[in-house]
Amino acid sequence: MPAKTASSSVVQVNSNYLKLKAGYLFPEIARRIKSFSEANPDAALIRLGIGDVTEPLPLACRNAMKVAIDEMGTNTGFHGYGPEQGYDWLREAIAKHDFQTKGCQINAEEIFVSDGSKCDSSNILDILGSSNRIAVTDPVYPVYVDSNVMTGRTGDANQSGRYAGLSYLPINAENGFAAKIPSEPVDLIYLCFPNNPTGAVATRAQLQEWVNYARTNSVLILFDAAYEAFIQNPDLPHSIYEIEGARECAIEFRSFSKNAGFTGTRCAFTVVPKGLKGKSDDGSDVELWNLWNRRQSTKFNGVSYIIQRGAEAVYSAQGQGEINALVSFYMRNAAIIRRELTSAGIEVHGGEHAPYVWLKTPDDMDSWGFFDHLLHNAHVVGTPGSGFGAAGEGYFRLSAFNSRVNVDEAMRRIRAL
Ligand code: MLT
Repeated sequence: MPAKTASSSVVQVNSNYLKLKAGYLFPEIARRIKSFSEANPDAALIRLGIGDVTEPLPLACRNAMKVAIDEMGTNTGFHGYGPEQGYDWLREAIAKHDFQTKGCQINAEEIFVSDGSKCDSSNILDILGSSNRIAVTDPVYPVYVDSNVMTGRTGDANQSGRYAGLSYLPINAENGFAAKIPSEPVDLIYLCFPNNPTGAVATRAQLQEWVNYARTNSVLILFDAAYEAFIQNPDLPHSIYEIEGARECAIEFRSFSKNAGFTGTRCAFTVVPKGLKGKSDDGSDVELWNLWNRRQSTKFNGVSYIIQRGAEAVYSAQGQGEINALVSFYMRNAAIIRRELTSAGIEVHGGEHAPYVWLKTPDDMDSWGFFDHLLHNAHVVGTPGSGFGAAGEGYFRLSAFNSRVNVDEAMRRIRAL
């Protein structure tokens, strides 16, 4: 064993981290922007890269937070540690408005309030065994893959960045961005609808097929519905629990980040239905709800009272009006991006039920090549499709989260290229 010195440690690191690509996608983009901006300080960049909201927080939420801050300044209204699962009044509002009124049998107790879907969709691996066989779409939200790598659930990456041990289900223009049911056996599958990054949506029939497959093959679906508010067609499902049988095979992740502008404020929730089971090493059934409840109680102290009051106001009449207006605003941006790119002769997908437009890079440019081209020549930032997986190569994502002025200007610049 090497001798310890004052300046070196021999603590072992989690070597799984060494399998990761050098940088997480968005910090890598930020790094490239920084070096471009340092060299070109006068360039007025327009950022349509990371899906971060730009419009002010709804007034209903701000007012509720102000009231909560004043309560915190009194002896009777002060709140210390809250319940790790979230306050009952918020869990009840969520269960009622997001599920029960939409015909889904989800109870308040099955809602776990948290500080983000990114965290929850990674943390969920804490309660799942490491020998599960995992399927992801390609392209995919990188967090699902990286969190599996970090926790030792994969082998090394190959040259195209695909990790050994994961099943990749390609989604592309040819299959209408709808993954095929895996042909090899898997235990766990991540689905995201409306999809990040492609903007694709799933019909009720398509989701029913996934649920039937999951139930027949004892597969757990991790369903990311962070963008459900952007669905425009009333026939499309917002939650997997609108599908018969989903309570027995799916966990759902939801967020206030994109509909109510909480990306910086932080509030989300995860739904773990009672009765949803996994297997222990001895083959007996275990309730996932119990494990997630146990995990959250130990590792999480809940979201701040003030923020949860803000989230609760999303469900007031005023809050609903304001979030509908926000969603419409961003969807109008998406429509402008689609229209302008289409008339520039670029093939576009998504952007109709999601705040992301997924485009085919022109002139067969590769994704990072197009990123650099836009950054240097139009001063517009997007996200290279290859950053979401090998099958995203040759694609590019533009986010509709920005001001109208910036979206119009970005489109003018791209069209002028
Ligand atoms: C994205 O740009 O893909 C989003 O910001 C992801 C996220 O919400 O973490």
